[in-house]
Formats: sequence, C-alpha cells, structure tokens
Amino acid sequence: MHKTAQLDQRHVWHPFTQMRDWLRREPIVIASGQGAVLRDVRGKKYLDANSSIWTNLHGHQHPKINAAITRQLKKISHSSALGFANEPASLLAERLLTAANTQHKTQSTRLAKVFYSDDGSTALEVALKLAYQFTLRARNKQSQPKFLALDGAYHGDTIGAVSMGHIDLFHKAYSGMLFQTDKVMSPYCYRCPFNRAKPERADARHYRKCNWECVHLVEKKFSAQKKKGNPYAAFVFEPLMQGAAGMIPQADGWLKKVAETARAHGALLIADEVMTGFGRTGKTFACQHQNIQPDFLCLAKGLTGGYLPMAATLTTQSVFNAFLGEYHEFKTFFHGHSFTGNQLGAAASLASLKILQTKRSEQQRARLQQRLHTELQSLWQLPNIGDIRQVGLVAGIELVKNWRTRESFTLRERAGIRVCEAMARRGVLTRPIGNVIPLLPPYCTTPKQMQTMVGALHDAVKEVF
Ligand SMILES: Cc1ncc(COP(=O)(O)O)c(C=O)c1O
Repeated sequence: MHKTAQLDQRHVWHPFTQMRDWLRREPIVIASGQGAVLRDVRGKKYLDANSSIWTNLHGHQHPKINAAITRQLKKISHSSALGFANEPASLLAERLLTAANTQHKTQSTRLAKVFYSDDGSTALEVALKLAYQFTLRARNKQSQPKFLALDGAYHGDTIGAVSMGHIDLFHKAYSGMLFQTDKVMSPYCYRCPFNRAKPERADARHYRKCNWECVHLVEKKFSAQKKKGNPYAAFVFEPLMQGAAGMIPQADGWLKKVAETARAHGALLIADEVMTGFGRTGKTFACQHQNIQPDFLCLAKGLTGGYLPMAATLTTQSVFNAFLGEYHEFKTFFHGHSFTGNQLGAAASLASLKILQTKRSEQQRARLQQRLHTELQSLWQLPNIGDIRQVGLVAGIELVKNWRTRESFTLRERAGIRVCEAMARRGVLTRPIGNVIPLLPPYCTTPKQMQTMVGALHDAVKEVF
C-alpha cells in the first residue's frame, strides 16, 4: 500500500464514510489535477466527473485562478474581518451583488449586502440566524419564528442547517439537538404520488396531466400556518434542482409559483444556491431562470472556482437595516468566523467570477450542456436506468431494479456504490447519492472527456447488473 494511503488509514476520519469499508481497501490518493483530470500517487488518471463534490468550475490548476492566488499570497493570505476591511473581499462583494441583481433594479428588491463565511453550511446558518432575528424584531417578539423547508432538503451539517434538512438518513440521528422546522412535499416527478410523471420511454404507462398538486400542498401549508397566528418567517429551498435529495429537478414553473405563495404569506425567501450557483444550471444563479429575487442568496462550493473554502450570504438593505442601532442597543449581528472575508479565497473568487462571465465560458457551458444531454441518451437502452435528470450541467441518473416497475434497490444492495466503484476502475470518479449517480463535469470538460464519463457509467451499469 502507498505510504500516504497508510498514513490516511491510520489517522484520518473521512466525511459521510463508513470507515470500516474505507479501511478494507487501499484508497485512491489524489496527488494532482489539471483541467478535468485528477491524477493519483501511482500516476493513474481519472476524470473528475462530479467536480470534486460539486465545487470545481473551470478545472484544476486554472492559470488565471492560480495567478490570482499567487499575486494575493505575495501581499497577505489572511487578516481578520473583525475590525478591518480588505480589498479582495470588498471588490468581491460588489461583483457578487452586481451578478445577483441583473434582473432587479429597484432598491426594495435588490440584494445589497454580503456576509462572508466558510462553507455551504455556514452560508445557510447565517441566513437562518439573520431571518430569525429579523422576524423577531419585525413582529415585536410575539412568537417564535418558524421555517418551512422541502422534503428531502439538505442544507449542510451545522446544527441550524441540519434543522432545516429533511433527509432522515442524515438528520434523524441528531433530532434531539435540533429545533423543529416544517417540511412540505417537493416535486419529484419520477416518483410523484399523484402518478403524473412524464413517460420516460415510448412504451411506458400513460400518465395523466400534472395539476400542480405539489404546489397546492405548499399553498395549504402556508395557509394552515397563518391560521395558527404565526405565519412562516421564511421558506428555504434549493432552486431548480435539489442536490443531495438525489438530483431532483423541479417542474418548469414550480419555483415561481411557490415563491409567489411564500411572498403572499409574508415569508422571507432563503435560496440555497450552494450547488446550483455560478453557472451550473445555465445562468449565473438558478433563481434567475424564473426571475426570483430571494431575501437571502447562499453561495459556497463554486464561489472560489472550487479552490478554497469560502461562502457568502447575500441579503437586502431592509434586513441589514434591522440590525442597525446604537452600540448599547446591542442590535449587532453577533456572528462570525475567524476566516470571514479571507483574502486568498476572495482573490480566487474574483478570478473565477471573471472567467465565468466571459462570452467564451458561456458558450462553452452551453455546448457542454447539449453534449451531456446527447451522451446521456445512450443510457436509456439499459434496463436498470430508471430516470435521467438534467438541469444545465447537473445530471442525476437513477438506478432501478427494473425500469418498467421503477422498483428501487435497497440501500443494503449498495447499487450506487458498486456502480461508482466500477466507474473508478474505468478512470471516472463520482460519488453516488443512494441509487443516483451524479454527473457534474467541470466546465472545461472536452467532448471526448464527456463521452468517456457517460461511457464509463454505461459500462459500469452493464458490469454491475
Ligand atoms: C444545496 C446545498 N446546501 C448546502 C450544502 C453544504 O455545503 P458544505 O458542504 O460546503 O457545508 C450542500 C453540500 O452539498 C448543498 O448541496
């Protein structure tokens, strides 16, 4: 076994990993990366088919991001945002707000302030705490602010973020530590209980037309809570596609309808764009597909191009104003981290955003998205492919025992894990979500590399089943 693998197995505890399984075999040890390619310590090359857990945008070792970080390194790596400003974080705040406000010109709907933190979870934690305090103040502390989230929601692993999450496998173990949030059905057309999903193959059973039952459930939930005299303070959602729930896209128009319902009931909108942000869905932010302006826009993962841990929570002037007061009134937002506004992260983010906003990157993403769609069609011929879901450059391929019955594999069968292991043997890396195989290629992926990624999935499914 390679000495780094030995060291790892002796000392490192990996996230979301059954360590007994981990210790059974030699792990892949990544030594370097270039573009969409990762290389291990033995020199074997792999395609990074999930962009290193959905973070990387423009590829590894991008010369412009490398140069930006190096330039910043020569000035300073980090100084505290508690008491001091710095240039890259200030510039980045301006650029993020400009990118987020393209459809919103009026003062009342514009996002106006940026609060920095370190990861997706903390971006959500910030939004949650701000929304909580804002609502308490607006409602004169009459009742505890309540939050509504989606079934299958995943917003991170800090306690507030877990409280807003609704995936039993991840969250139930902590139930005693959490505060209660409500959940409402999210659209999962392939397994719609109203039996109205679109037929995925020509000879599939006939489905009736969708009547937006899932939207009506959201409306009912808001009305019921209002009747209790304590309307929801905020509605938290991943726009267009729920990631960790299994790459589940929302039917066109769903987001607009539920956002309008939430607004009509006076709820704040917390958009979690940790996965969908920065061009993943085709536009800079997924909310822009349906002209939604949230009160909180939570960003992380791709913010730095996937180089460094940094996150941002964008919010409105009115939220900001609620925290203004004389020192002795203690209206301050009492929250922050040691690395808030880190210069290296901000320098990487500025470089990444600049690349993202070029015409070339836009065209490259559009072409790649089309290419991904074309390649994915080859999978339909396999009987264990139940559903193929794609939004922009995010795809989730759901494995089933039989596509006609849509019967799921049990988790014990480790179907997703086995397929991903077989893909790794073919030089393609991604990580399953239960029975769903995610593909989120870096934006620099070539057509040939895209073909290899989907081809490896095709062959792995054939091998495993
Ligand atoms: C939508 C969404 N929100 C939040 C998070 C948490 O982000 P992090 O792992 O950076 O804390 C994730 C992570 O996968 C995510 O997909």
